[in-house]
Amino acid sequence: MVLIFHTKCRNLNITLLIFADDLFVLCGVDIVSFRLIVDSLSNFYHFSGLQPNMPKGIIFFAGVEAAYKEALRLVLPIPEGSLPAKYLGVPLISTRLRAHDCAQMKEKTLHSGANVAWHAVCAPKEEGGLGLCVLKTWNKACMMRHQWAICMKADTLWIKWIHTFILRNQSVWRVKIPQEASWTIRKLFQLRDEIQPWIKYIIGDGKSTYLWVDNWHNLGPICKRFGDSGDFHVGRPLFAKVSSIIHNGAWQWPRPRSAITKEIVSNFDPSLIPNVSVPDCVRWTLCKYGFSHHVPRWAFIEWLALLGRLSTKDRLYSWGVVSDQRCVLCQVENESHEHLFFACAYSSAMWDSLLQRNNIFR
Ligand SMILES: *[C@@H]1O[C@H](CO)[C@@H](O)[C@H](O)[C@H]1NC(C)=O
Ligand SMILES: *[C@@H]1O[C@H](CO)[C@@H](O)[C@H](O)[C@H]1NC(C)=O
Ligand SMILES: *[C@@H]1O[C@H](CO)[C@@H](O)[C@H](O)[C@H]1NC(C)=O
Repeated sequence: MVLIFHTKCRNLNITLLIFADDLFVLCGVDIVSFRLIVDSLSNFYHFSGLQPNMPKGIIFFAGVEAAYKEALRLVLPIPEGSLPAKYLGVPLISTRLRAHDCAQMKEKTLHSGANVAWHAVCAPKEEGGLGLCVLKTWNKACMMRHQWAICMKADTLWIKWIHTFILRNQSVWRVKIPQEASWTIRKLFQLRDEIQPWIKYIIGDGKSTYLWVDNWHNLGPICKRFGDSGDFHVGRPLFAKVSSIIHNGAWQWPRPRSAITKEIVSNFDPSLIPNVSVPDCVRWTLCKYGFSHHVPRWAFIEWLALLGRLSTKDRLYSWGVVSDQRCVLCQVENESHEHLFFACAYSSAMWDSLLQRNNIFR
C-alpha cells in the first residue's frame, strides 16, 4: 500500500495532524483509502491500546454521491456530519470568521454585563477598570509574537511550513504574499511595517540576515531609509546577506561609491563585531531605530525608573509587601527612586568613579 502525501505535505513529511485528543484524518474518497484508515486505526489499537470511539466521531464528505457514501460508510461506520460544524465552540470554516458565525457565543457573553463603557471596563484595575484585555490590542500583540517566531525560525511545524511555502528563502520583510495564501497569513504579513522596528538582528556569521533589508545596522533597515533605488547596493545585490561583507571575521564594506554609501559606512557602529562561529539571532527591542548602544533589559529598567514605576522598597512598603524599607545598598536610608539612583552613598560613589574614569570632573 502506498501512502500519498496531501498537497504541500511532502516537503515536511506531514502525514497527519493531531490536536489534543481529537484526531483529524483527511483522505481521498475511495474504498482503498478508507480500508487503509480502518487498518491503521486497528494497528494503532493493537500497538497502543487506544481505541477510537467510532459513534462519537463525525465524518464529513465533500462532493460524494449518496450511493457511494453508503458504500464508504460500511467500511468506516462513523455518523455523518454536515458543514458548517463547530470544534471547541468555534465554527470550522475555511474562510474568515464573521460576526454572525459567533452570534451565539456573543449572546452568552453579553447577557451578564452591566452598562459600563467598554473602554472603562478595559482600563487597568488600578485605574478603576476591570483589567479586561482589549482584544484588538491583544490580538495585535499575539500576531507580532507570531511574526517574531517566524524571524526566529522557531522550531514548530507551522513556522517551518511558512518558511517552506511562503518565504522560500526570501526576506520576511519583502516577500510578496501570494494571493492564494490564507486570510490569516495575509493579515499577519500586513503588520510587517509596524513590527519591523521592534525586531533587531544581532549578527553572528551574517549568513541569515539580509544586508540591505533587515534591521541590523544602527540606521535601521537600509532600504527603508534610502529606498531601493539608491545606488548603495551596486556591487552587492539587493538580497545579499550580511555575510557578503564579512571576510576573515572582520567587516569589509564595499568601496564607498556615493554619499549614501559613505553615510551607511560612517554611521556603522564599529563595536559590532561579527562572530562567524555563531548563527545570527533576532531580538525584540524596546527602542526603535537610533538607540544603538543599549541593552534592551537596561533600557526597560531605565524607562520604568523615569516613570517612577520600579518596585523600590518604599512602594513595596506602601503595598504592604515588605516591612523594612531600608535601602538594599546602604542599609541606612529608606529606599526610593531618588535615593537608590542618586542620594545613596553607594550610588553616588559609583557615579563619581564613573565620571572620573571618563575624565569628567564636576
Ligand atoms: C532555500 O535554500 C536552501 C539552502 O540554501 C535550499 O536547499 C532550498 O532549496 C531553497 N529553497 C527554495 C524554495 O528556494
Ligand atoms: C564567538 O562565539 C563563541 C560561542 O558563543 C564564543 O565562544 C567566542 O568567544 C565568540 N568569539 C568572539 C570573537 O566573540
Ligand atoms: C523610613 O520610613 C518610615 C515609615 O515611613 C519612617 O518611620 C522612618 O523614620 C524612615 N526612616 C528613615 C531613615 O528615614
